[in-house]
Amino acid sequence: MIPFNKPYLTGKEFQFINEAISSGHISGNGIFTKKVQKYFEERWGFKKCLLTTSCTDALEMAALLVNIESGDEVIMPSYTFVSTALAFVRQGAVIKFLDSKSDQPGMDEDQIAELITPKTKAIVPMHYAGIACDMDKIMALAQEFKIFVIEDAAQAINGYYKNKPLGSMGNLGCFSFHETKNIQCGEGGMLVINDERFIKRAEILWEKGTNRAEFFRGEVNKYNWVDTGSSFLPSDLIAAFLWAQLESFDEIQIRRREIWDWYNNNVDILFKGYNFRKPFVPQYSTNNGHIYYMVFSSLEERTKFIDDLKNRGIHAVFHYQSLHQSPYYDGKYLGNPLPNCEMYADCLVRLPLFHEIDLSIWR
Ligand SMILES: Cc1ncc(COP(=O)(O)O)c(C=O)c1O
Repeated sequence: MIPFNKPYLTGKEFQFINEAISSGHISGNGIFTKKVQKYFEERWGFKKCLLTTSCTDALEMAALLVNIESGDEVIMPSYTFVSTALAFVRQGAVIKFLDSKSDQPGMDEDQIAELITPKTKAIVPMHYAGIACDMDKIMALAQEFKIFVIEDAAQAINGYYKNKPLGSMGNLGCFSFHETKNIQCGEGGMLVINDERFIKRAEILWEKGTNRAEFFRGEVNKYNWVDTGSSFLPSDLIAAFLWAQLESFDEIQIRRREIWDWYNNNVDILFKGYNFRKPFVPQYSTNNGHIYYMVFSSLEERTKFIDDLKNRGIHAVFHYQSLHQSPYYDGKYLGNPLPNCEMYADCLVRLPLFHEIDLSIWR
């Protein structure tokens, strides 16, 4: 069976893991963690980066940093991964879900204004498939109503909105390096802190509620329990793995775009008998080659497509089930119907997209 995803290894992972082991410091915030964080800060101009054990952790840190409390409202898409909402729900937030746009699965920014109330504390734009949300619209509302913006950029590394890197525009940004992502370390993530006010506290939350990072820099002579937090930082072994991926970043991106473009040029011919539409990338956004998706005309048509490919030994997969219709939200969702989310939940399918795929499988 051709898998949907196969994590790419550059070949340098073991070497850097060995170096981390030899350095004698394999817990968090070691040499490789610092190198990786600096790379992200320099290449994409992120003000401050902290590696985390997942994007879920980065989102949880974000919810703590903006002080989400019981009854606060947070606006986000329903067509997203559980963690986008869970990080805020566990702090007591009420989620106000947005529909997707009709021409793409990304959230409909034009519906945000009607969901804003005096209790709205944050908006969480999620850049589906690395395609940018319309950040100008979001940031204008955030400024007007004094709302925090936390970008869920889990899929969006090296994506841009009008020449600005995704993850760099909100107060905070959250990335994933899960094995399904463009660059990966098995499980991993990163919090980007663009708003200077959050930097000091972010380091404390990251280090189990202590000021240990300051202590290691020699800024205080002992460290203490000073706040809430958790063990959000990964071992330096994870950072060493990720460093190998970063060294090959450009090559990885070129290959992913090559595959994405090949699909986009060939699906009409390859799948002539099916009724589907291709991905839409708005002018304001780049395409980081994260996901190649197709949208079928019905659940039945999609199911037939997935089954047909399965019979050819190819694994294609659907994506999210809308969060407002999840068992967890059963009976709790009181907002408007979200027909586009429901349509993408039923009709969207993703084709296998990984570095070593042999595209001759489609011939
Ligand atoms: C949009 C989105 N947000 C958050 C996450 C969570 O990422 P992680 O698995 O690194 O916790 C994912 C995972 O794929 C995701 O797709």
